[in-house]
Amino acid sequence: MSAPPLPGRRWPFVLRAPGKAILFGEHAVVRGRTALVMALDRGTEVAFEPRRSPGGLYVNGLPWHELGNPYLAEAVRRFPGWGEKDVSLTVRSQLPRASGLGSSAAFTVGLVAGFLLPEGEVARDRLARESYRIERSAQGVGSPVDTSASAAGGVLAVGARSRDDELWALPPEEGSPGFHVSRVNAPPWAWAAAYSGVAKATGLVVRRVGEVFNTSRGEEILEAIDRVAREGERALGREDRQEIGHLLTENHRLLQELGASHPRLESLVEAARPFVEGVKLTGAGGGGSVLALPREGQEALLLKAWARAGGVPYRLSVSPAGAGPRGEALPVGDHPDHVPGL
Ligand code: PMV
Repeated sequence: MSAPPLPGRRWPFVLRAPGKAILFGEHAVVRGRTALVMALDRGTEVAFEPRRSPGGLYVNGLPWHELGNPYLAEAVRRFPGWGEKDVSLTVRSQLPRASGLGSSAAFTVGLVAGFLLPEGEVARDRLARESYRIERSAQGVGSPVDTSASAAGGVLAVGARSRDDELWALPPEEGSPGFHVSRVNAPPWAWAAAYSGVAKATGLVVRRVGEVFNTSRGEEILEAIDRVAREGERALGREDRQEIGHLLTENHRLLQELGASHPRLESLVEAARPFVEGVKLTGAGGGGSVLALPREGQEALLLKAWARAGGVPYRLSVSPAGAGPRGEALPVGDHPDHVPGL
């Protein structure tokens, strides 16, 4: 399966970029092992409009450099001239920040797509590559998992191993292996996540976990996570819900051993257990969110249990589409309507 390019156009336009949830393999992917990631039906929109008065690039009503946003600063640095363009950006997100659900990747991909579109058609591998470089420079560490999911949509396998069926490859960056990105079967399942309310700091947790990886037990955990992710790809192919659940729970146990969990994540995992096939922390951890595959018919009970346990619950499904132009704006607000009626 391919990923069709984005058709070029001039502003005004609105770009919508999906967030992501990592099913298997976070942290191990930084060392080139396999991770599976899905693009979410929640995301971030970036509206591009001409500004009537001069003054350069404005974002949400402020000159871009006054925002102090590292992703924006890095994007402007890599696309010379954009800081001086009289363009106004409005950014709206359905994802809480620093929640492990890909809000910064979606923002970066939306931004880069908007910077590239006026030049003409944008190939998705280029969008993924430029966005990965920006995210990595802004964070100091990391893999192309989040930005690839937002650029491509669907469910992806990402790792250092090359494959015949790959969508695209990303060349090695300083201190990081090259990566290969392939599409994986995406069953039409209902997923759910809960944000713990504790903002995570990816760079910090990746460095802490890196110290565990450097021990002999760390090496075994790396291989175990890789095995779980590869079995996960096969189980998604068979649409085997029970096996996916079992593997999610197994991956969580390995992430606990790496020290990536947090007491708030553990209470969300415990609250979920009666209603799910499996549950794990998703993303860097140390805060952020948990992801679960609810048992069929148990979604509403799961969301209620999470809300009672103090989490911010979301129903989720896979977005088959990656970033692209949209006509309609999202509702205003940071992360509205997560659980209507609760
Ligand atoms: O930033 P997060 O929470 O989505 O974490 C990403 C997953 C890691 O594997 C920990 C880092 C990476 O860039 O792959």
